[in-house]
Amino acid sequence: MTRITNKHLLPLYDKPMIYYPIQTLVDAGISDIMIVTGGNNAGDFLKLLGNGADFGLKHINYTYQKGEGGIAAALALTEHFAAGSKVVVILGDNIIQGSIASHVAAFAKQTKGARLLLKEVHDPERFGVAEIKGSKIVSIEEKPKKPKSSYAVTGIYMYDGKVFDIVKTLKPSRRGELEITDVNNAYIKRGQLQFDVLEGWWTDAGTFESLYRAGNLVREEILSKGKF
Ligand code: G1P
Repeated sequence: MTRITNKHLLPLYDKPMIYYPIQTLVDAGISDIMIVTGGNNAGDFLKLLGNGADFGLKHINYTYQKGEGGIAAALALTEHFAAGSKVVVILGDNIIQGSIASHVAAFAKQTKGARLLLKEVHDPERFGVAEIKGSKIVSIEEKPKKPKSSYAVTGIYMYDGKVFDIVKTLKPSRRGELEITDVNNAYIKRGQLQFDVLEGWWTDAGTFESLYRAGNLVREEILSKGKF
């Protein structure tokens, strides 16, 4: 399916997949974004999204990640764009029912650190999994065989400007990538990781099953709102 296109440009029910995460950011009041993409068809993002005006974006920026360096390496490419301020990161295949506006507002008030959005799932071994004690996340394991909870770390992350220094300290994982889970664990070590549990459904769309499921969820949502 991705020989001549990029996963995030595949149709998700009625739109290219990437439209959904962009809309999630826009709905939370974010008007300056940077797209980090890779592969052979990166230029198609520019063709599709142009200057971002269709979304009401003030600025849209693009950069290119060579190879498969991991999510944290992709984030590192945005350092000049973030210019020391807070950032909200969303993975291009993370689709949600509701809004992240209240969580972004809570993060705006947070003086430092990071904020994650968690969601209870029935297959936590597919994700980063948070171990929670009391009101704190005490550890995060990436795709654990024996998950310590059913709370997945969604691909929506909020970081202060220090995140770029943290990424520079990371070493590649066994799969040869700079892991976003290692970034999050570094914030736990600093005692600066906060979290919320996301309301409404959340899904990734990066496997055949989850892409199919995401399409159905979006369809049901659209039909329930009587948009067609
Ligand atoms: C990535 C992260 C994982 C997170 C997931 C959310 O996994 O590594 O921690 O739970 O996104 O979608 P990927 O699905 O890219 O392997």
